[in-house]
Amino acid sequence: MDLKNIVYDSLKDISILTGIENLQELLVYTNDIKNGDISLPCFSLAKTLRKSPVAIADEIKENVSSDYFDKIENVNGYLNFFLNRKKVFELVCEYLSGETNTQPGKGKTLFIDFSSLNLAKYMHIGHLSTTVIGSVIANTYEYLGYDVKRLNYVGDYGTPFGKMITAILKWGDVEKIEAEGVDYIQGLYVKFNVEAEKDESLMNEAREWFLKIENKDPEAMEIYNKIIRVSIKEAERLCNILEIYFDSWIGEAFYNDKLQPVIEELDNKELLQVSQGAKIVDLEKYNLGVCMIQKSDGASLYATRDLATALDRWERYHFDLGLYVTSVQQKLHFERWFKVLELMGKDYAQNLKHITYGTYSLPSGKIGSRFGKQALVKDMIEISVSKAKEIVSTRGSKVADIDKLSQEIGIGAVKFGVLKTERIKDCVFDLDASLNFDGETSPYLQYTHARCCSILKNAEGKDAQYSLDDIDNVDTFELIKHISNFEKNVIESARDFEPCYISRYLINLSSLFNKFYNNYRIIENEKVSKARLQVVGFVKDALAKGLKLLGINAPESM
Ligand code: ARG
Repeated sequence: MDLKNIVYDSLKDISILTGIENLQELLVYTNDIKNGDISLPCFSLAKTLRKSPVAIADEIKENVSSDYFDKIENVNGYLNFFLNRKKVFELVCEYLSGETNTQPGKGKTLFIDFSSLNLAKYMHIGHLSTTVIGSVIANTYEYLGYDVKRLNYVGDYGTPFGKMITAILKWGDVEKIEAEGVDYIQGLYVKFNVEAEKDESLMNEAREWFLKIENKDPEAMEIYNKIIRVSIKEAERLCNILEIYFDSWIGEAFYNDKLQPVIEELDNKELLQVSQGAKIVDLEKYNLGVCMIQKSDGASLYATRDLATALDRWERYHFDLGLYVTSVQQKLHFERWFKVLELMGKDYAQNLKHITYGTYSLPSGKIGSRFGKQALVKDMIEISVSKAKEIVSTRGSKVADIDKLSQEIGIGAVKFGVLKTERIKDCVFDLDASLNFDGETSPYLQYTHARCCSILKNAEGKDAQYSLDDIDNVDTFELIKHISNFEKNVIESARDFEPCYISRYLINLSSLFNKFYNNYRIIENEKVSKARLQVVGFVKDALAKGLKLLGINAPESM
């Protein structure tokens, strides 16, 4: 619901405005309540209507009539509408008690390729953004009615696996892979990289092993498959802890033997050129350089695999939208192969979008782990959850299952770190700041939700009186206006692929709510203000729905 529509409805039939097409977009919410709630700046109309903004505003003002306005003022060409709070409240209540989700995506299909980590690496902080942002975009589209396919296109292909096999055979034991898991392989992989600096022959051995994987040599495949199985198992375990799920874990290797038809099609369409023995598509015309399709030694490439993957996904899903969530460093890669797909005449190339993000890191000096320079996801979760537990205990929580609660708060904070700002901004996970119950944080949202739950519970069975006078004040009305915008906000978040619209919406909702809560009594002397309680219920619902979209649990008490 957009309250601006109330104003729009009262304006659209006024004769001087009938031809104005963008009238709806001209309306704005005011920043200052002394200018009313919604304003129509008449400046851009002056040219079309050949009148001064002030004269236009006056003419409109004379012709508007609606029960929803207390007052309309013309202030230097701004026509300011003061909404009648009680009437609007009733309208909002009616709206919120019905089905608010119009599911504009019903009947449409979307795939989202996210997380997609390279299995040679342990899941680290650098993987969190794609995993968390991707899952929120997926949730948001699903909420809007899309049939969403969540695809984890794991990087299970390339020389790193040759390195691992070399290391395992040299310093380890194939039998231990499955029993000891990812730590074991990671340790050997790190050792390989250290040793390879001193001994160049190791790299050649690794390349040979990778070649054997490419040629499906049984010995290589046996070890390789073990590595993949163990790595996927660990990635899945971490995703389960994060409560992020996928419909498919089909990775790059699956497509590696489906490249020939792509290369042939490119050739038939006369798109391929040979340059120094390599096969390329020339994209100079589009200022995109060249897209490498096949190296001179015949080795396949990331872009070629992506082309084959897109063809296959089209066959499987006939998607209306296909999203790829990766760091901004891969921008050119996607621009190139999207262009190649378009040149191949695949109309669905237009349905593909690359969603980028900046870096997520720990405050400087706090990086590093046994396995490399970056903080591991499992360590971040562990530290955050244990810190959350400490805080919850100090605050004297009465919740029975403190471990579950700490888990919900700690993991929520790790996720919220990448959700609170625009995707493209770099962000830092500062443990203390993220777990501050009074900051712009996920615990603050969770706490506000729990507070609403406890008010609703306290009111149960008490004498309730309904009076619209209880909500007839600025603070409450600001809150109500904000609540009414929930769906609109979700739609905009999906449109721009920006989870932060939702997180910011919830932060604003919580601070408006806390102001309302501090200034107005909801329950006084065992008497409940039913109208105010209704507001609390709406806030609770919006917080619960919003947190769910963000993939953050909303405990009922803290
Ligand atoms: N595995 C790649 C990486 O870690 C990301 C894959 C993204 N998806 C894709 N279809 N290219 O860099």
